Amino acid sequence: MKAFIIDRYKSKDGGRLCEVPDPELRETDVMVQVHAASINLLDAKIRDGEFKFALPYRLPLILGNDVAGVIVRVGFRVQRFNIGDKVYARPDKDRIGTFAEFIALHEDDVAIQPSSLTMEEAASIPLVALTAWQALIERANLKKGQKVLIHAGSGGVGTIAIQLAKHIGATVATTTSTANIDLVKRLGADVVIDYKKDDFENGLRDYGVVLNSLDARTLEKSLSVLKPGGKLISISGPPDPDFAKEIGLSWMLKVVMYLLSFGIRKKAKRRGVSYSFLFMRASGGQLGEITSLINAGAIRPVVDRVFPFESIKEAFAYVETGRAKGKVIIKLR
Ligand SMILES: NC(=O)c1ccc[n+]([C@@H]2O[C@H](COP(=O)([O-])OP(=O)(O)OC[C@H]3O[C@@H](n4cnc5c(N)ncnc54)[C@H](OP(=O)(O)O)[C@@H]3O)[C@@H](O)[C@H]2O)c1
Repeated sequence: MKAFIIDRYKSKDGGRLCEVPDPELRETDVMVQVHAASINLLDAKIRDGEFKFALPYRLPLILGNDVAGVIVRVGFRVQRFNIGDKVYARPDKDRIGTFAEFIALHEDDVAIQPSSLTMEEAASIPLVALTAWQALIERANLKKGQKVLIHAGSGGVGTIAIQLAKHIGATVATTTSTANIDLVKRLGADVVIDYKKDDFENGLRDYGVVLNSLDARTLEKSLSVLKPGGKLISISGPPDPDFAKEIGLSWMLKVVMYLLSFGIRKKAKRRGVSYSFLFMRASGGQLGEITSLINAGAIRPVVDRVFPFESIKEAFAYVETGRAKGKVIIKLR
């Protein structure tokens, strides 16, 4: 099958399209013929070896962390899916590789696609929607009436997180640039801060939750908008010791993460709020709940551009400008 692979981390060519053997199907797997995949910044970070410490992949490696497609084979112990089902998924972190014509996925990581979406729209959902779900529902326990600040509301995670938080009944503030103000308002944001003109930390007070996906300065400034007991959750780092424990890292890496997050954890404690790092995980169960929300019209996908498989490097370059509005998709069929 055709696939987009890296032979080495940080190689000059940035990966290549080539022929590789079809994936092997385990007894609890479904084999998905990939119709569309989406690019995440995580793919570029993996390509550049930034996650080597936490995700020690064997090279060569097929990249890709989001998929929409059709089941063409099922393992003999698969219970919930059939050949022909239209599904989508974020594969387990140890079994990525959606930039390929086929991928084998554990059935627990897979969900039936929302009925109203195209394959391209479905591929835009899994990783960012699971991230929003795990940050706002699981980690923050966000409730109706609470105030939440979602940074970078026009990005992949932001566009879904705003809609999920509004569905829960929270008041949502978000940061974006002038060009994207209308977009985030249409998604439901109540308070929009144009970061080109204003500093969010001057206007916002007494927030219960902040979801950070930006740099260390934004992270630190976010502390001042939280009320005592508030939660600062970051998906862009720094990683903390709980994350190291969760993914079973060595004691040495636990120490590294203790040190990397020491400053922000200390400042958070001084203000009576908490800091935590979130690294999202695959979950077909949660994705099934997201399917229901999309079918009910509570969440809709935001797709910026669709590239053919042959132009995948162009698609990477576009995502890496940091200017994408919602998601960037690779169409394989
Ligand atoms: N830990 C995890 O599990 C996890 C999961 C998903 C993502 N992430 C990480 O989270 C980060 C965001 O991911 P993403 O997919 O949402 O990124 P993305 O879609 O590439 O983000 C692009 C968007 O960010 C906005 N943006 C850039 N700088 C901004 C600023 N200073 N203030 C407000 N908005 C700004 C841009 O809007 P403008 O053009 O208006 O600036 C653009 O619409 C990445 O670092 C990614 O690796 C982590």
